[in-house]
Amino acid sequence: MATDEWLARWKEGRIGFHRSAPHDALMRHWPSLGAEPGDKVLVPLCGKSLDMRWLAEQGHPVLGLELSSLAIEQFMAEGEAPVSRYTQGAFSCCRQGCIELWCGDFFHFHTAQAEELSAFYDRAALIALPEATRQRYAFHLAQLLLPGTRGLLISLMDMHSPEGGPPYSVADDEVERLFAANFELTHLETRPPDDSGKQESVWSLIRRGPRPA
Ligand SMILES: C[S@@+](CC[C@H](N)C(=O)[O-])C[C@H]1O[C@@H](n2cnc3c(N)ncnc32)[C@H](O)[C@@H]1O
Repeated sequence: MATDEWLARWKEGRIGFHRSAPHDALMRHWPSLGAEPGDKVLVPLCGKSLDMRWLAEQGHPVLGLELSSLAIEQFMAEGEAPVSRYTQGAFSCCRQGCIELWCGDFFHFHTAQAEELSAFYDRAALIALPEATRQRYAFHLAQLLLPGTRGLLISLMDMHSPEGGPPYSVADDEVERLFAANFELTHLETRPPDDSGKQESVWSLIRRGPRPA
């Protein structure tokens, strides 16, 4: 889906992916990653996810990256703390408490801006991207993260209609193919399918080796 289409979705309120509570797989599995309070968490393609508030409540500074300024403004409006605004390169940024949301394209976020990151969280980011872009996403994420960086990934398979998207159906073997070169990957859980045949898998990842050239 092109940038314009995501912006149109936000403008028209077509955000069925947004959840009104933190994801229970995040709350259940995050502690097992061993991320310490104070470790900064990257949340690519973050929308206005309440998962970021949950991560902040665990003591993590959060850096969310999102194309839509509407999503970011809605997130900030739903919070109570004051908001400060600044720019970082091409990104327009807002900070509320220990949550920073940068508005712009994840693929334009570069290594020099990623120095303080110690962890990451992907729910509905990988699966928001078409097949050709998923490869680029996995590589870009690996480039941004130092060896040892830990993350939680929630992927999704659509058992009834695996074609089309978003959300795109991403089989477990594709997740392994995409990440295995640069991450130690552990499959934590496959959840029962929902009524529409969508089934989530939960993964822990640890960035290994040197940054790819
Ligand atoms: C399926 S939603 C998931 C949002 C969030 N992770 C959640 O769980 O609610 C995908 C989000 O990624 C944003 N997005 C899509 N492509 C992007 C890109 N290249 N860079 C930054 N954000 C992007 C969209 O605007 C949308 O808000």
